[in-house]
Amino acid sequence: MALLQKKMRHFHICLLGLVALTTIFYILHSRSLLKMDNRHNMEYRKTPIHMVVVACGQRVQETLVMIKSAILFNYYQEYLKFSVFTEEHLMDEFSEKLSDWRDLFPQMFEFELLRLRFPNQSEAEWRNLFKPCAAQRLFLPSLLTNVDSLLYVDTDILFLSPITDVWQFLNKFNESQIAALAPEHESENIGWYNRFARHPFYGPLGVNSGVMLMNLTRMRQFNWEQHILPIYKEYKLRITWGDQDIINILFYYHPDKLYLMPCEYNYRPDHCMYMSICNISHSGVKLIHGNRGYFHSNKQPLFRELYKAIETYQFGSSIYENFLLPLRLALSDKLVNDSSCGKISKDVIIIANRIFGNKF
Ligand SMILES: *[C@@H]1O[C@H](CO)[C@@H](O)[C@H](O)[C@H]1NC(C)=O
Ligand SMILES: *[C@@H]1O[C@H](CO)[C@@H](O)[C@H](O)[C@H]1NC(C)=O
Ligand SMILES: *[C@@H]1O[C@H](CO)[C@@H](O)[C@H](O)[C@H]1NC(C)=O
Ligand SMILES: *[C@@H]1O[C@H](CO)[C@@H](O)[C@H](O)[C@H]1NC(C)=O
Ligand SMILES: *[C@@H]1O[C@H](CO)[C@@H](O)[C@H](O)[C@H]1NC(C)=O
Repeated sequence: MALLQKKMRHFHICLLGLVALTTIFYILHSRSLLKMDNRHNMEYRKTPIHMVVVACGQRVQETLVMIKSAILFNYYQEYLKFSVFTEEHLMDEFSEKLSDWRDLFPQMFEFELLRLRFPNQSEAEWRNLFKPCAAQRLFLPSLLTNVDSLLYVDTDILFLSPITDVWQFLNKFNESQIAALAPEHESENIGWYNRFARHPFYGPLGVNSGVMLMNLTRMRQFNWEQHILPIYKEYKLRITWGDQDIINILFYYHPDKLYLMPCEYNYRPDHCMYMSICNISHSGVKLIHGNRGYFHSNKQPLFRELYKAIETYQFGSSIYENFLLPLRLALSDKLVNDSSCGKISKDVIIIANRIFGNKF
């Protein structure tokens, strides 16, 4: 009898120990699960809106002003990542300025400077065919293999709205769409592709490649780059605008893969220099594109004044006093008002008025 009791007691102690161990193990385990959960959330929050630009030659200052506009208009305080593909000797200048700004807004953005390069596969072939800077963006799917999606912009773009606005088109893609672009033109009478192109192009008037949302995951699934080389080989003697023409030819053959954005996401002098042909309605110009040097010329002073207002503004000072008021003044100048693009002065400042218009 006594022996049995002793055995039973022994058994109970063992059981108790086991329960205790299990409990401890369970608590530790759920703690670590909790931690993992937190880390997961942090990463989720930190998934940046990723912007890519390719800057060569004399384009450093213009590129910096473009990036500055994206930061200035980042009203929703999205976490941004800027990847700048550039030439070796321009990196210091970029690094200095971008580091200064990042120190002012450490929670808002990060940046990386990348050397111009081609994918390893058949590198020699690409290199001989394309100028590195011009065609760099065609190879983003295989150069940025960890990136799901990005916004590519030319250096001569300015944000006049939060980057969030253009980014949300990615969520509107249907199952087949891999990229988004705005039309090259709105009017058949003055369109370029429909009148002059000697190669096929997307839609009735082509697309402009200055602002391009790319879902790289889908572009890789589509084997994007395997389509580029044959197009280039077949059409190289008939293309005028380089990579933009290649993109147009590709989407001519695959129209189901393109999401078409409205013209206010890539607003160009062509939209206002003869008459106003982009139907902005009441939403305002979102991204403005000073192509053919319009940010630096007097041909349509509206473009120059927008560029100057952003370039002149100093981060850390009052946006209302030092950006919005001077811009309003500049746009009401007689030279601007008398120009044909001056007719859209109200449309380029709508969003700035809305988000910076409250003095306090
Ligand atoms: C591409 O080539 C470079 C140098 O030739 C090498 O350092 C790099 O690891 C290669 N990348 C891949 C993905 O093969
Ligand atoms: C891009 O496409 C992939 C594959 O369809 C999808 O999983 C991913 O969510 C898309 N990215 C965005 C930002 O929509
Ligand atoms: C996606 O939209 C495009 C353009 O409207 C269309 O051509 C294509 O067929 C659509 N794809 C699917 C899977 O619905
Ligand atoms: C302009 O856009 C608005 C709304 O987006 C639409 O109601 C109107 O019909 C459009 N006007 C023209 C001329 O296309
Ligand atoms: C601006 O131009 C319009 C005609 O386009 C004219 O009626 C108006 O008086 C001008 N305003 C100023 C301040 O010059």
